[in-house]
Formats: sequence, C-alpha cells, structure tokens
Amino acid sequence: MSEFKIYNKSCYELQELSGNSIDAIVTDPPYGISYQNHYWDKDLPKRQIWEDSLRVLKPGAFGLVFSSIRLMHRLMVDLEDSGFIIKDVLFWSYLNGMPKSRDVALDIDKELGIESKVIGKYKYVQGYKKNGADNYYANKEKFKYEPTSELGKKYQGSGLGLKPAFEPIILIQKSIEKKLNVAQNIIKYSTGSLNIEETRISYANGEKTVGHNPHSKGRVASNIVRTEEFNDGFDKFFLIPKVRQKKEDFNFHPTLKPVDLMYHLVKLVSFEGQTVIDPFIGSGSTGIACLKLKRNFVGYELKKDYFEIAKKGLENIKTEVSYMLF
Ligand SMILES: C[S@@+](CC[C@H](N)C(=O)[O-])C[C@H]1O[C@@H](n2cnc3c(N)ncnc32)[C@H](O)[C@@H]1O
Repeated sequence: MSEFKIYNKSCYELQELSGNSIDAIVTDPPYGISYQNHYWDKDLPKRQIWEDSLRVLKPGAFGLVFSSIRLMHRLMVDLEDSGFIIKDVLFWSYLNGMPKSRDVALDIDKELGIESKVIGKYKYVQGYKKNGADNYYANKEKFKYEPTSELGKKYQGSGLGLKPAFEPIILIQKSIEKKLNVAQNIIKYSTGSLNIEETRISYANGEKTVGHNPHSKGRVASNIVRTEEFNDGFDKFFLIPKVRQKKEDFNFHPTLKPVDLMYHLVKLVSFEGQTVIDPFIGSGSTGIACLKLKRNFVGYELKKDYFEIAKKGLENIKTEVSYMLF
C-alpha cells in the first residue's frame, strides 16, 4: 500500500528526509514570472532547493521540473550548478495559451492624443474552449477599435507576443554512483533508468503495428507531450491517453496541472513501490498521480489554503492508501 507525507511548510532544506532516500522528483515550482500577480511566483526558487533535492535523491534518480519559456535557461543553470545532469527538455503542448499582447496601434493613437475609431463590438472570450467559445464570458461585450493616426495605421495589427502553446519540462538526473555501471546502480539503489515500458504511446485506432520489431504496448514516448487531441496526424506519436480527474471543483489553484499529464510524468521517472518527492505541491496533482500509480509520495506546500486542497485531494483516495499528515 502506498503512503504519503505532506508538510505545510517551506521545502528549503528538506530536513525531514535523509540522504539517498528518494527515487525521483517531479515538481512544478514557481516560474518566477509573477503569474496573475501571485506573490509566491515572484522569483524562481533559490538554488538551495535543488542542492537539497540532490542530497535526498538516490544516485541515478531521475526528475522532471516544470518551467517557463522565459526563465527555463536560468532554472537549467541552477539545476546543473546544483549537480544535476540535464538529460532532455520535454515540451508539453496545449491549445489554451493566451497571447500576452496588446494593440500597439491604439496605444500610439492615445500617446498622440488622437481618438481611435469605434468600428463595432465583440464578445470577450477568455482562452480556447473545445466546443465553441460563444458562451464563455458571453455577456462581456467590448468595443472594437481601429487606429486613426498615420503612425497608428502603419503599426496596425502589430503586437508584443505570440500565443504560448507549450510549457517546457526539464528532465534531470543525479549521476549514478562512481565506479558503478547502470545495471550495478539499479541493483544497489533501484534507480538509474527511465520507465519507458509504462509510458509507451498506444498505437492509434486502426493501426496494427509499426517498425521491424513492434512492441505490443505501442511506441516509445517522445519528448513532445500532448493531453489534448489536435487531430493533425501527430497525435499517434504524442498523445497521452486521458485519465480524467473527478470531483475537481474544490480545486481553485491557479496553476493546477492536469492529472493525466502528471500520470505520464510520474510513470516516466519512477516504478511501482518507489518514492517520489514534490517540494512545491500546490494542489497536489503530483501526489494524486503517485498514489494512484502505487508510488509513495513526499511533498511540501507553503500556503495553507493550497495545502488544504492537496490534503483533501489525497484524502479522497485514502481508501487506497495509508496516510500521514503533518
Ligand atoms: C506552480 S505551483 C504548483 C501547482 C501544482 N503543480 C498543482 O497542480 O496544483 C507552485 C507552488 O509552490 C508553492 N511554494 C512556493 N514556494 C514554496 C516553498 N518555499 N516551499 C513550499 N512550497 C512553495 C506555492 O505556494 C505554489 O502553490
């Protein structure tokens, strides 16, 4: 039976955990971009947490760390300087990213003190909605403008950013023990390889087998990850089978990650019966995936209200696991 321990406190030092005791790390730390002005996202975590994580992980242990496009380079340097090997970067691609842009042409009109022209109205739609966005904020009507100054007209349609459609997830590893090869490291610590077998992407409907030596479970998962169907022909390489979370309504965490994505990530870096750490649990999606996949889980969350969401989510499956809360 799987176990979990979650701590409502800062993760720094991980003092409850002994060295070389954890099999994998899967975490979604603050991105350092002040997402929706949340204070806890103001800065990237201090390098110390990665040094602490390196200490508690077993030699050969793998990890996955979410990041942002703008600051992944800094996070990767922190991870590398802490002693981790950077193995890969996974791209989690999705459809509902919002371009952080603005109509510069209208700003130019304003700056020049010239009034822009109203040319109609539109319904404000936030993000992408699969079955048509018409009802999404349907009552929020906004005016549609067009620039009137000469300079404004020249810059009409220009903006400041692209639609984000992926998040990077950094794949890291703690070195295997000196003088051991991978097999010897696995025998000694049970860590050192990725769980390719459990993360294979099933063959698409109608597709029988592929390649000269087809595997019954499908293709090896790639470093592009999708949880939404794009129907562009690439789904058969990148789409993770969906496992929908139930009773999610109580969860108001602003950066909640889909549990079907977390299943895939937890499976990739760990095996049944192993222990996974998440120093930044938020609403606990890593932990839920771990328990359902028969992994033990250790996590930390600074904010009491997020901790309570995580606790509730984990308690919802407490019939399947034994639990301890701090
Ligand atoms: C990006 S969110 C994690 C969201 C999570 N993946 C989910 O699905 O809900 C990062 C979390 O780290 C927490 N946090 C920030 N600094 C922390 C620290 N020093 N120790 C523990 N948690 C911290 C924040 O409160 C926030 O909930």
